[in-house]
Amino acid sequence: MRLQTERLLLRSLLPQDVEPELRLWADPDVTRFMGGPRDSDRVRQILEDELRTPPAGPLGQWPVVVKATGEFVGDCGLVAKDIDGRSEIELVYLFEKSAWGMGYATEIGSALLRFAHEELGRERIVSLIDSDNVASRRVAVRLGMSLEAVVTRPDGGQRELWVSKVCGA
Ligand SMILES: CC(C)(COP(=O)(O)OP(=O)(O)OC[C@H]1O[C@@H](n2cnc3c(N)ncnc32)[C@H](O)[C@@H]1OP(=O)(O)O)[C@@H](O)C(=O)NCCC(=O)NCCS
Repeated sequence: MRLQTERLLLRSLLPQDVEPELRLWADPDVTRFMGGPRDSDRVRQILEDELRTPPAGPLGQWPVVVKATGEFVGDCGLVAKDIDGRSEIELVYLFEKSAWGMGYATEIGSALLRFAHEELGRERIVSLIDSDNVASRRVAVRLGMSLEAVVTRPDGGQRELWVSKVCGA
C-alpha cells in the first residue's frame, strides 16, 4: 500500500516503524477515545507478523511519515468491520501528539476517502467516533462526512457513526 499527499506518505510497514508504532499505541492520550493503551507485547507480535507476511490488499492500517523528513507521525488506514450486522469499511486515523493540529488527519483522511471511493469503488466509508472526541469529529466534518447514527459497540460503548458517501449514492 502506498498513498501520497502534499506532505505525507502512507506506506507499508518497515522494521523501523515498530518502535514508534509501539509508542503510539501505548500513549494514553492518543488512545483515550480508542479503547485505551494496547499491550505492547501484543502489538509487537502483530507488527512482526505483518513484517513477515505483509497484507496483500489495500485494507489495513499503515504507518504515515512526513515526506520531507521520513519522520513517523501516525497510523491510518481503511479497515473492514462489522457494525450492527452490516459490513463496513472504516476510516481510521491516529497521530503522535507532537503532530496534532497540523492538518495531517484531514490531509491523509481525504486521500484515503478518495482512494476508497474512486479506486476501490466503495460507495460508503464510515468512521466510529466517541462523541467527546472533539478533534476527530472536526476531522469528520472537514472530510465532508455526515453523522448518521449512534451505535453500541461489542464492548458496550456508544460511538457516533459518521459516513462518507459518493455523490448520488
Ligand atoms: C483526532 C486526530 C487524528 C486529529 O488529527 P489532527 O491531524 O490534529 O487533525 P487536523 O489538524 O486535521 O484538525 C482537524 C480539526 O480538528 C481540530 N483539532 C485538532 N486537535 C484538536 C483538539 N485537541 N481539540 C479540539 N480540536 C482539535 C483542528 O483545529 C481542526 O478543526 P477546524 O476544522 O475547526 O480547523 C488526532 O487528534 C489524534 O490522533 N487523536 C488521537 C487518536 C484518535 O482519537 N483518533 C480518532 C479516533 S476516531
